Amino acid sequence: EPTEAQIRDVIAPLQGLEGPLLPMLHALQEHWGYVPQAAAPVICAALNISRAEFHGVVSFYHDFREAPAGRHVLKICRAEACQAMGGTELAGVALDRLGVDWHGTTANGAVTVEPVYCLGLCACAPAAMIDGRVVGRLDAEGMTKLCAEAGA
Ligand code: FES
Repeated sequence: EPTEAQIRDVIAPLQGLEGPLLPMLHALQEHWGYVPQAAAPVICAALNISRAEFHGVVSFYHDFREAPAGRHVLKICRAEACQAMGGTELAGVALDRLGVDWHGTTANGAVTVEPVYCLGLCACAPAAMIDGRVVGRLDAEGMTKLCAEAGA
């Protein structure tokens, strides 16, 4: 967990931007792979915003992670075309198999599961992405296999 001073170093150059919050969050996530807990008080003080506002933005943008990710990141599409093709059930299969909830990481640190809202693979719904590789027409068996390959 980085210190407040380290966080200040990363966000300081962005302070003068118009609308600096998102660039700061992106910079932190790029630097540490997630938005560290210690960033909240530092950013809230720097930008004069409330904790509620800070957490609202972090949770609204699904790209931000609030804890370090596992060795593999499995993103499951939750947008409409995939939902219509059984995406909800498919996500259920993955979450059950991995024993985590959304944004959770398996106990062995192998896989983090995150929702994503359209992977541009709607014609091959339901879709998911593992470490940046998209996989379409997934069924329960395919999803189970993906999880196993990722070491979960
Ligand atoms: Fe899932 Fe587009 S809705 S890939």
